[in-house]
Amino acid sequence: MRLAPVPSLPDIRLYLAHPGSGLQRLLEPDDESAAGPQPPYWAYAWAGGAVLARYVLDRPSIVAGKRVLDLGAGSGLVGIAAAKAGAREVIAAEIDRNGVVALRLNAEANDVAIHICDEGVTAGPPPAVDLVLAGDVFYAQDVGQRMIPFLDRCLSDGIEVLVGDPGRAWLPRSRLRLLGEYQVPDVGGNGGAEPKPSGVFAFVAEG
Ligand SMILES: C[S@@+](CC[C@H](N)C(=O)[O-])C[C@H]1O[C@@H](n2cnc3c(N)ncnc32)[C@H](O)[C@@H]1O
Repeated sequence: MRLAPVPSLPDIRLYLAHPGSGLQRLLEPDDESAAGPQPPYWAYAWAGGAVLARYVLDRPSIVAGKRVLDLGAGSGLVGIAAAKAGAREVIAAEIDRNGVVALRLNAEANDVAIHICDEGVTAGPPPAVDLVLAGDVFYAQDVGQRMIPFLDRCLSDGIEVLVGDPGRAWLPRSRLRLLGEYQVPDVGGNGGAEPKPSGVFAFVAEG
Protein backbone atom coordinates (compact mmCIF):
# COMPACT_ATOMS: atom_id res chain seq x y z
CA MET A 1 0.00 0.00 0.00
CA ARG A 2 1.17 3.54 -0.65
CA LEU A 3 0.21 6.60 1.35
CA ALA A 4 -0.98 9.04 -1.30
CA PRO A 5 -3.37 11.97 -1.69
CA VAL A 6 -6.85 10.94 -2.82
CA PRO A 7 -7.65 12.07 -6.37
CA SER A 8 -10.28 14.85 -6.04
CA LEU A 9 -9.45 15.22 -2.31
CA PRO A 10 -5.82 16.33 -2.11
CA ASP A 11 -6.13 17.27 1.58
CA ILE A 12 -6.72 13.62 2.52
CA ARG A 13 -4.02 10.96 2.26
CA LEU A 14 -4.84 7.26 2.37
CA TYR A 15 -2.98 3.99 2.14
CA LEU A 16 -4.19 3.03 -1.35
CA ALA A 17 -3.68 -0.09 -3.45
CA HIS A 18 -1.32 -0.15 -6.42
CA PRO A 19 -0.39 -2.99 -8.81
CA GLY A 20 2.38 -4.22 -6.49
CA SER A 21 0.20 -4.42 -3.38
CA GLY A 22 -0.62 -8.10 -3.84
CA LEU A 23 -4.12 -7.72 -2.45
CA GLN A 24 -5.33 -10.63 -4.56
CA ARG A 25 -4.16 -12.98 -1.80
CA LEU A 26 -6.84 -11.57 0.50
CA LEU A 27 -9.44 -13.16 -1.79
CA GLU A 28 -8.20 -16.65 -1.07
CA PRO A 29 -10.49 -18.82 1.06
CA ASP A 30 -10.31 -18.10 4.75
CA ASP A 31 -11.53 -20.76 7.18
CA GLU A 32 -12.16 -18.22 9.90
CA SER A 33 -14.84 -16.40 7.93
CA ALA A 34 -18.09 -18.25 7.29
CA ALA A 35 -19.09 -15.69 4.69
CA GLY A 36 -15.82 -16.14 2.76
CA PRO A 37 -13.22 -13.49 2.10
CA GLN A 38 -14.34 -9.95 1.34
CA PRO A 39 -12.76 -7.93 -1.45
CA PRO A 40 -10.44 -5.26 -0.01
CA TYR A 41 -12.93 -2.41 -0.33
CA TRP A 42 -10.88 -0.47 2.20
CA ALA A 43 -7.91 -0.24 -0.22
CA TYR A 44 -9.68 2.24 -2.51
CA ALA A 45 -11.52 5.53 -2.33
CA TRP A 46 -14.93 4.71 -3.75
CA ALA A 47 -16.87 7.28 -5.73
CA GLY A 48 -19.72 7.39 -3.20
CA GLY A 49 -17.31 8.10 -0.37
CA ALA A 50 -15.29 10.57 -2.42
CA VAL A 51 -18.35 12.63 -3.33
CA LEU A 52 -19.59 12.65 0.26
CA ALA A 53 -16.16 13.64 1.58
CA ARG A 54 -15.93 16.46 -0.99
CA TYR A 55 -19.42 17.68 -0.02
CA VAL A 56 -18.60 17.74 3.70
CA LEU A 57 -15.24 19.49 3.22
CA ASP A 58 -16.92 22.15 1.03
CA ARG A 59 -19.73 22.66 3.58
CA PRO A 60 -18.19 22.15 7.03
CA SER A 61 -21.33 23.46 8.78
CA ILE A 62 -23.01 20.14 7.91
CA VAL A 63 -20.79 18.33 10.41
CA ALA A 64 -19.29 21.04 12.63
CA GLY A 65 -19.83 20.23 16.30
CA LYS A 66 -21.81 17.08 15.48
CA ARG A 67 -21.42 13.41 16.36
CA VAL A 68 -21.07 11.59 13.05
CA LEU A 69 -21.28 7.93 12.04
CA ASP A 70 -19.33 6.94 8.91
CA LEU A 71 -21.32 3.84 7.92
CA GLY A 72 -19.45 1.26 5.81
CA ALA A 73 -16.31 3.28 6.33
CA GLY A 74 -13.82 1.23 4.27
CA SER A 75 -10.65 3.32 4.19
CA GLY A 76 -12.30 5.87 6.50
CA LEU A 77 -12.31 8.54 3.82
CA VAL A 78 -15.68 10.01 4.77
CA GLY A 79 -15.06 9.96 8.51
CA ILE A 80 -11.66 11.57 8.03
CA ALA A 81 -13.29 14.35 5.97
CA ALA A 82 -15.92 14.83 8.70
CA ALA A 83 -13.25 15.05 11.39
CA LYS A 84 -11.23 17.53 9.34
CA ALA A 85 -14.39 19.60 8.77
CA GLY A 86 -14.94 19.95 12.52
CA ALA A 87 -17.16 17.06 13.64
CA ARG A 88 -17.19 16.76 17.43
CA GLU A 89 -16.88 12.97 17.33
CA VAL A 90 -16.59 10.47 14.50
CA ILE A 91 -17.48 6.79 14.72
CA ALA A 92 -16.47 4.64 11.76
CA ALA A 93 -18.45 1.40 11.36
CA GLU A 94 -16.71 -1.30 9.34
CA ILE A 95 -17.12 -5.07 9.46
CA ASP A 96 -13.99 -6.12 7.54
CA ARG A 97 -11.14 -6.86 9.94
CA ASN A 98 -8.51 -5.68 7.42
CA GLY A 99 -10.59 -2.57 6.84
CA VAL A 100 -10.49 -1.83 10.55
CA VAL A 101 -6.67 -1.85 10.44
CA ALA A 102 -6.64 0.37 7.35
CA LEU A 103 -9.06 2.76 9.04
CA ARG A 104 -6.79 3.10 12.05
CA LEU A 105 -3.69 3.72 9.91
CA ASN A 106 -5.51 6.20 7.68
CA ALA A 107 -6.87 8.16 10.65
CA GLU A 108 -3.35 8.39 12.07
CA ALA A 109 -1.90 9.46 8.71
CA ASN A 110 -4.41 12.33 8.62
CA ASP A 111 -3.94 13.21 12.27
CA VAL A 112 -7.61 12.82 13.22
CA ALA A 113 -9.32 10.89 16.01
CA ILE A 114 -11.85 8.28 14.91
CA HIS A 115 -13.61 5.68 17.07
CA ILE A 116 -13.90 2.39 15.25
CA CYS A 117 -16.94 0.14 15.60
CA ASP A 118 -16.38 -3.33 14.12
CA GLU A 119 -19.49 -5.03 15.51
CA GLY A 120 -21.98 -4.86 12.66
CA VAL A 121 -23.80 -1.73 13.75
CA THR A 122 -26.70 -2.22 11.31
CA ALA A 123 -28.34 -5.01 13.33
CA GLY A 124 -29.02 -2.91 16.39
CA PRO A 125 -30.31 0.48 17.44
CA PRO A 126 -28.46 3.51 16.03
CA PRO A 127 -25.55 4.77 18.13
CA ALA A 128 -25.71 8.18 19.78
CA VAL A 129 -24.93 10.37 16.76
CA ASP A 130 -26.48 13.40 15.06
CA LEU A 131 -25.63 12.51 11.48
CA VAL A 132 -24.98 9.33 9.47
CA LEU A 133 -22.78 9.55 6.38
CA ALA A 134 -23.11 6.47 4.15
CA GLY A 135 -20.58 6.42 1.30
CA ASP A 136 -21.12 3.80 -1.40
CA VAL A 137 -23.02 1.26 0.67
CA PHE A 138 -25.49 0.17 -2.04
CA TYR A 139 -23.00 -1.85 -4.11
CA ALA A 140 -24.63 -5.23 -3.36
CA GLN A 141 -28.24 -6.25 -2.81
CA ASP A 142 -27.76 -7.97 0.55
CA VAL A 143 -25.70 -5.07 1.91
CA GLY A 144 -28.29 -2.52 0.76
CA GLN A 145 -31.09 -4.60 2.30
CA ARG A 146 -29.31 -4.47 5.66
CA MET A 147 -28.62 -0.75 5.39
CA ILE A 148 -32.15 0.49 4.66
CA PRO A 149 -33.91 -0.71 7.87
CA PHE A 150 -30.99 0.64 9.90
CA LEU A 151 -31.15 4.01 8.14
CA ASP A 152 -34.93 4.05 8.75
CA ARG A 153 -34.28 3.54 12.46
CA CYS A 154 -31.83 6.43 12.32
CA LEU A 155 -34.51 8.69 10.80
CA SER A 156 -37.00 7.57 13.46
CA ASP A 157 -34.48 8.58 16.12
CA GLY A 158 -34.13 12.03 14.55
CA ILE A 159 -30.70 11.31 13.03
CA GLU A 160 -30.03 12.93 9.67
CA VAL A 161 -28.72 10.59 6.95
CA LEU A 162 -26.66 11.56 3.90
CA VAL A 163 -25.75 9.08 1.18
CA GLY A 164 -22.99 9.39 -1.44
CA ASP A 165 -23.33 7.22 -4.53
CA PRO A 166 -22.43 7.13 -8.23
CA GLY A 167 -25.72 5.40 -9.12
CA ARG A 168 -25.08 1.77 -8.18
CA ALA A 169 -27.65 -0.88 -9.01
CA TRP A 170 -29.06 -1.23 -5.50
CA LEU A 171 -29.40 2.48 -4.74
CA PRO A 172 -32.89 3.06 -3.22
CA ARG A 173 -33.66 6.01 -5.49
CA SER A 174 -37.24 6.51 -4.24
CA ARG A 175 -35.83 7.20 -0.76
CA LEU A 176 -33.27 9.80 -1.86
CA ARG A 177 -33.37 13.55 -2.50
CA LEU A 178 -30.43 14.89 -4.52
CA LEU A 179 -28.43 17.60 -2.73
CA GLY A 180 -25.40 17.94 -4.97
CA GLU A 181 -23.36 16.33 -7.68
CA TYR A 182 -19.61 16.19 -8.38
CA GLN A 183 -17.36 14.48 -10.88
CA VAL A 184 -15.12 12.08 -8.93
CA PRO A 185 -12.97 9.11 -9.96
CA ASP A 186 -14.48 5.73 -9.14
CA VAL A 187 -11.24 3.98 -8.33
CA GLY A 188 -12.85 1.10 -6.48
CA GLY A 189 -15.73 0.47 -8.83
CA ASN A 190 -15.99 -0.81 -12.37
CA GLY A 191 -15.60 2.62 -13.93
CA GLY A 192 -11.81 2.75 -13.66
CA ALA A 193 -10.24 5.96 -12.47
CA GLU A 194 -12.20 8.17 -14.85
CA PRO A 195 -14.18 10.93 -13.15
CA LYS A 196 -17.91 10.38 -13.38
CA PRO A 197 -20.93 12.13 -11.89
CA SER A 198 -21.73 11.03 -8.35
CA GLY A 199 -24.42 12.35 -6.07
CA VAL A 200 -24.92 13.34 -2.47
CA PHE A 201 -28.44 12.61 -1.30
CA ALA A 202 -30.57 13.05 1.78
CA PHE A 203 -32.11 9.69 2.77
CA VAL A 204 -35.80 10.45 3.43
CA ALA A 205 -38.69 8.64 5.08
CA GLU A 206 -40.89 6.40 2.95
CA GLY A 207 -44.07 7.78 1.42
C1 LIG B 1 -17.92 0.04 -1.29
S1 LIG B 1 -17.15 0.16 0.27
C2 LIG B 1 -17.17 1.93 0.55
C3 LIG B 1 -16.12 2.36 1.53
C4 LIG B 1 -16.04 3.85 1.79
N1 LIG B 1 -17.26 4.34 2.44
C5 LIG B 1 -15.77 4.60 0.51
O1 LIG B 1 -16.72 5.18 -0.04
O2 LIG B 1 -14.63 4.61 0.03
C6 LIG B 1 -18.44 -0.39 1.41
C7 LIG B 1 -17.94 -0.81 2.76
O3 LIG B 1 -19.05 -1.13 3.60
C8 LIG B 1 -18.63 -2.17 4.48
N2 LIG B 1 -19.85 -2.79 5.03
C9 LIG B 1 -20.71 -3.64 4.42
N3 LIG B 1 -21.71 -3.98 5.25
C10 LIG B 1 -21.46 -3.34 6.42
C11 LIG B 1 -22.13 -3.29 7.69
N4 LIG B 1 -23.25 -3.99 7.92
N5 LIG B 1 -21.61 -2.52 8.67
C12 LIG B 1 -20.47 -1.82 8.46
N6 LIG B 1 -19.78 -1.83 7.28
C13 LIG B 1 -20.28 -2.58 6.29
C14 LIG B 1 -17.80 -3.07 3.58
O4 LIG B 1 -16.96 -3.92 4.32
C15 LIG B 1 -17.04 -2.04 2.75
O5 LIG B 1 -15.80 -1.71 3.33
